[in-house]
This record gives sequence, C-alpha cells and structure tokens, in this order.
Amino acid sequence: MRILAIETSCDDTGIAILETSNKRQATRLKVLANIVSSQQIHQNYGGVFPMMAYREHQKNLVPVTINALKEAKLLIERENIAILDNNDNLKKIFKKEQELYKLAKKFLETYEKPEVDAIAVTYGPGLEPCLWTGVNFARSLSYIWKLPIVPVNHIEAHILVNFLDKQLSPFSDGRQKKGIMFPAMSLVVSGGHTQLILIKGIGKYKIIGETRDDAAGECFDKCAKILGLGYPGGPIISKMAAKVKKDTYFQNRRPSKLQVHMPRPMMHTKDYDFSFSGLKTAVLYKTRDRKENPSSPGSSGSAHFVAEMCFEVQQSIIDVLLKKTLKAAKDFKAKTIILGGGVSANSELRSQFKLKVESEKLKVNVVFPEPKLSTDNALMIAVTGYFNKAKKIAWNRLSVHANLRIGKTK
Ligand code: KG4
Ligand code: ZN
Repeated sequence: MRILAIETSCDDTGIAILETSNKRQATRLKVLANIVSSQQIHQNYGGVFPMMAYREHQKNLVPVTINALKEAKLLIERENIAILDNNDNLKKIFKKEQELYKLAKKFLETYEKPEVDAIAVTYGPGLEPCLWTGVNFARSLSYIWKLPIVPVNHIEAHILVNFLDKQLSPFSDGRQKKGIMFPAMSLVVSGGHTQLILIKGIGKYKIIGETRDDAAGECFDKCAKILGLGYPGGPIISKMAAKVKKDTYFQNRRPSKLQVHMPRPMMHTKDYDFSFSGLKTAVLYKTRDRKENPSSPGSSGSAHFVAEMCFEVQQSIIDVLLKKTLKAAKDFKAKTIILGGGVSANSELRSQFKLKVESEKLKVNVVFPEPKLSTDNALMIAVTGYFNKAKKIAWNRLSVHANLRIGKTK
C-alpha cells in the first residue's frame, strides 16, 4: 500500500510518500519521500502569523508535492493535458484558496494519477486557515484521482512516528523485543501542545495532564523573542545553552557559577499538568531589570547573560517535563515512555530523560523520533494514516477541526 501524506497544520508544508508491505506477520514501512518546506518568512516576526502561513502553504503545496513524487519516482507527465476549467467540484473545493486552485488545477491537468492508494492529511489540531489548505488540497487529489482520504490527528502523528523509527509492527511480537510496549506514557511537547497521554494501545488514548497556559515550545519561542534571538526559539536557545554547559563547572547538572536562576513552575504539584507562562514572565522581568541596571548581579557581559538565561530556560523546562513524565509513568505503570513533538528534538532533553531513567533504575524504555521527525513533517502523517487506514472517507466528507483532541474525531 502506498500513502501520500499532507501536513500543513502550522508553518511547515510537508508531503511524504510511504510504502507498506507485510512480511512474516510484520509490517515493513519504506519511506519513498519526505519533504518539508519550513516557511522562513516567520523568522523576521518571532512567531507564526496564521494568515501569512496560509498564503505560504498555498504557494508551497504543489511544488513540494511535485518534488516528493519525483523523489519517489512516481511523477509521470500526461500525454494529453486534461482540461479541468469547467470542473465545478474543483472550483467549490478551492472557493477560498484561489492561489492554490490555480496551481493544483495545473498540476492535476499536467500529471497522471500516481500509483498511490490513499491520501492521508492532518485535519486538526492546528491553525484553522493552514489546516484548510492541506485538507482542500487533499480533497482535490482524492476527488480527481478517485482515492480515499484518511483524516489524521496531528498529536497522534507525533506519537506514532516513533513506530517508523523502530520499524515496528504493533501487530506482531516484534515490538516486545524492539522497544514500544503498552501501557505507554507519551509526552507530546510542541509549539502548540504539552500533553501527557496514557496509551493502552494504538487508538486507545487518554490525556492525563496538559499545560494550563503556554506550551513548552511556545515558552522557548517567547523567551527567545524576549532575548532577541529570533524564531523558532528552541533550537537557538539549545545552542546558546550548550555554550554555558561547556564553559562552566558543573554540580548536579547545574553550572555552579551560574548567577541567573529561573523558576520551575508546577514542578511539585500532585497532578500531571504544566504551566509555562510564569517562566516566560520571569525571563521578561529579569531581562528588563538587567537593561535598567546593567551592573546588577547576574553576569559580567550581556552575551554571557543571554547564554546563562538560555541555559536556565532550557533546564527549567526539562526539569519540569522530566519530573512530571516520570511521575506519570510510575503512577500508571507504563512500560515505555514515548516522546514526540518539536521540543523532543532537544538533545539535552533526550539525554537527561535517558540518564534519569538509568540512574533511577526504572523498568521503562524511553523512545523518541530522530530529531527531524520530532518537528512537523508529513511522514508522521503517513505512518498514522497507515494505522488508521480503516477510517478512510470520501473527499466530500472531510472537514477541519482546529481544536481536535487525541482520541476524538471532532
Ligand atoms: O511539533 P512542532 O514542529 O510544531 C507544532 O506542532 O507546534 O514544534 C515546534 C516547536 C517550536 O516551538 C520550536 O521552538 C520547538 O518545537 N523546537 C525545539 C527544538 N526544535 C524545535 N525546542 C527545543 N529544542 C529544540 N531543539
Ligand atoms: Zn507538531
């Protein structure tokens, strides 16, 4: 089976093509293409503007699809161009996305239907206008090529992408040996979400805790903006923090010479919830304070101050995520901890999770996707589409749900 997958929930336009086959009761997944076009335009603004991202997706979707099909060796030009000028359904699908209509129509007129069996697409959660570009593009491909659509939940995709990495089949005993066992506890940490999800099996999810305000990735992004570091904040903060780690003498993971200290919000509460907006406010006040009193205790130079602040922001987020996730894993007797979402690309977070589980001798596996599959991509949508292939629907039955929760359909 071949799945063409589409991801446009935020500021990354992604198209992937996944081939699956069954051998000796195990499912093999082969990646034929996985292309992500990250919209650079948001770097100048320190965050994502939905309407700007909406326009960018309209421009990017067709060229990225052409590249993905080319890479998968599935792009074939038609001998005779099909004229779709008078196709009312196509016009209806793209009623609001005129720019995408022109590009999609030309694409469908120029190329043959590729050898794929289904279209998987993110239909929530995410930024509503952005979701519509991917969903309407999927509807057009499904309608013209007569293929079913598998609607995919973006959060479930951040979790299930871990199955791809391990080449696992949840239907075979293979998983026992290779890493993911149920019940599992998943921490999904992205720009829009921070959730702890109890997983009893694929499709059996329960959110047991989540952020009450900002998501962890959002906190990285907002702190980076306050510190004048650009967007997205996570990778930049992580780079700056690494400098401090290298330069400073360490005691208990904390550099002993560090003079900036940030709070660890809700770290010791009994629930499984999070809160990160207070951390951002603390960074804002400390940064303002330093600007007004440059000689105040904190650090010697401004570059050093920023680096120390990055270290503290990152460590504070890691401390809270680690504490709450391990507590949840123990309380629910999880056999595996599954990390996913953009923040799980953070190398300190990954290594500190592994170290802590080892040092506490916990009987739990920690798995995470390779960094480029932690952040938004369409391959995770393809994998999740594969697991949900029985939920396929026709092109005219698909809508968008910007606030979709895992385990729900709308
Ligand atoms: O999952 P994702 O790509 O998009 C959403 O679904 O939101 O996550 C994006 C978030 C951004 O907030 C970004 O700053 C953060 O993930 N991020 C990181 C790292 N790479 C991306 N945060 C910390 N460390 C990283 N290396
Ligand atoms: Zn995401």
